[in-house]
Amino acid sequence: VVLLCTLASTAFGVADLGMPGWSCDADLMKRSKSVPTSVHSLRPADIDIIGALGDSLTAANGAGAEHNDILGVAIQYRGLTFSVGGDKTLDEHISMANVLKKFNPNLFGYSIRTGSANVWETAHLNAGIPGAHSGDMVGQANDLVRRLRDHPEIDYINQWKLIHIFIGGNDMCGWCTHLDSATADHYRDNIRAAVQVLQKELPRTIVVLTGMVDISLLRKADADHKFCQAIHKSECGCEVNPDVTDEMLTNEAKLYMQKEQELQDSGEFDTADDFTLILQPFFEGVTDICRLPDGSPNMDFFAPDCFHFGAYGHSIVGKNLWNNMMQPVGSKTVANFTDTGNPLLCPEASCPFIRTTKNSVDCATYMTN
Ligand SMILES: *[C@@H]1O[C@H](CO)[C@@H](O)[C@H](O)[C@H]1NC(C)=O
Repeated sequence: VVLLCTLASTAFGVADLGMPGWSCDADLMKRSKSVPTSVHSLRPADIDIIGALGDSLTAANGAGAEHNDILGVAIQYRGLTFSVGGDKTLDEHISMANVLKKFNPNLFGYSIRTGSANVWETAHLNAGIPGAHSGDMVGQANDLVRRLRDHPEIDYINQWKLIHIFIGGNDMCGWCTHLDSATADHYRDNIRAAVQVLQKELPRTIVVLTGMVDISLLRKADADHKFCQAIHKSECGCEVNPDVTDEMLTNEAKLYMQKEQELQDSGEFDTADDFTLILQPFFEGVTDICRLPDGSPNMDFFAPDCFHFGAYGHSIVGKNLWNNMMQPVGSKTVANFTDTGNPLLCPEASCPFIRTTKNSVDCATYMTN
């Protein structure tokens, strides 16, 4: 598998990673016999609508750009983002959307091709905007709610919706120069306020929150690539700031992750049967970047700026996101950015649902057919 992956590439020569021929036991791929009323009894095939809030990693800046095409980083390859990107099929590119399409070919909302958030025909429900930080999440949440309500092809009351959130890179890149305002508490409160909007406005919704990534990892790629270092000066000040140690960055990322964990554990978003927030912590504890067999950084993971993810990086991250969604709370695995050829998980027969805090404790209560 590993060999296949490294050789696989798209027509325009950008490395990618797919899961050709992947499927699960037919029973596990079916929709529930009747539309679930509980968010803890959601089979993957029950998801009809997907959307996302986020920054340039959700807009997928540069994901489809060739290695030396630095200007390509300005292009938003929304269709390739690891969460709601719907370009190609799972055979060629791994994203949460491409996996969900296998379960429900009528899935709606995923983004395709390139373009900004306000181009409905391509962005659909991917509301992520390059440069966004946690303080922009409420605005994006309101924008997403408006899109869900305004589009007649969506039955936003009755259809099950999955909203993915990944935010914080830009908070972290400016954190060292705004120590008073860019606190982890502030970060949590910003996400909380956005999820409150979703909770108030959207029935039948599961919010999937990808936990913060440690940006000190980027320094491992920069070490051998002076060009990257230079670009990061403008993209991510605190990453290249010599006064900021790796440890400081790692600790701050950990704090952000803890605060996200608090949001889930508080139970604030577990008060209705048809809404929950679930954290996918696969970035927590990642200690290395993607490497080639000889140990050097595998730059296919990155876009040409060595900061954003390339198509291949989005696929690796997409696989880890999906696998976390299939794993019960408390037993979710940490990502390895170097692809180990590990499989894409299927729902478990004993609990064939997207795992939530509640069905991770006692799945039998939520069993349906
Ligand atoms: C990640 O996977 C690679 C390839 O199998 C392995 O060499 C490396 O030790 C793994 N890294 C971690 C942190 O487990």
